[in-house]
Amino acid sequence: MFSDPIAVFDSGMGGISVLKEMVRLMPEEDFIYFGDSANAPYGVRTVEDVRQLTISHIRFLLEEKSAKAIAVACNTATSAAVRDLRKMYPEVPLVGVEPAIKPAVNSCDHPRILVMATPRTLAEEKFLKLEELYDDMADIYPLPCPGLMEFVEQGTLSGPDLEDYLHGIMDPYLDKDLTGIVLGCTHYPFVRKTISKVAGPDVRIFDGSLGTARELARRIRAAGLARDPGHKGSVTFMNSLPDPERLHLMETLFHTSC
Ligand code: DGL
Repeated sequence: MFSDPIAVFDSGMGGISVLKEMVRLMPEEDFIYFGDSANAPYGVRTVEDVRQLTISHIRFLLEEKSAKAIAVACNTATSAAVRDLRKMYPEVPLVGVEPAIKPAVNSCDHPRILVMATPRTLAEEKFLKLEELYDDMADIYPLPCPGLMEFVEQGTLSGPDLEDYLHGIMDPYLDKDLTGIVLGCTHYPFVRKTISKVAGPDVRIFDGSLGTARELARRIRAAGLARDPGHKGSVTFMNSLPDPERLHLMETLFHTSC
C-alpha cells in the first residue's frame, strides 16, 4: 500500500548514487536501501549466480519488508534478473538501470564513447543490444573495469592508487579523442571526479541515475502508490554485512556529492 517503503537494491553501496536522485525527486517517500556487500562484487560472478542472489534479495524486500516498489540500482543485477523479476511480480512497480548510452550518442555528431562497466554487464544481451542499436551512429568502446567498485566499497573516491588504476585501464583509449564516458555501473558516479581528471575536461560524463529515478516516480504514481507530498520521508540502510563501519560508510556516501 501507499505508506509502505520503496526498496532500492544493489550488490553493495553503488546504488546509493541512484537512491540520492530518488530521494531528491520523492522526498515524501520512505526508502529502504539494501546492499549485498557480503556477496559483492557481482560483476565478476556468473549470470546465474547474480540472478539467484538478486531474486532472493528482492523476494526478501517484498515479503519481509513489504516494499511497495523496487529499484534494482545495479546494472549487473538488472542485466541478469530484471526480466525474470517482472514476470514474477507483474503487479509491482519495478525499475532497473542500464548504461546511459542514448544521451551520450545524442550529445553530438558521431560521438566516441567509452562505456565503463563490470565485465558481466558488458557480456550480457542487454548491453550487446544497446551497442548494436547505436553502432552506426557512434564509436562505442566497452571497457570492463574489474576492481573499480572495490575502491568505492572501501570509501576511496580519489587519490594516487585510484588514479593509477584508472590510468592502467583508460590510457589505451585516451588517444581516441573521446567525446563521452558512460558510467555503466552505479558505483562509478562516486569516482566521477577522478575519472574526469584522468579523461580530461573536454570529455562529458553520462550516468543514468536521474532517468531511473524519474521512471520509478512515474510508475509509482501510475500505480496509485505515491505518498502525500506533506509526508516527511526517511531512508533506512541495510547491508548483508551489517558491521557498523559499513553502515556508517553508506550514510557518508549518501551525503557525498557525485
Ligand atoms: N553496482 C553494480 C553495477 O551497477 C556493480 C558492482 C559489482 O560488481 O558488484 O553494475
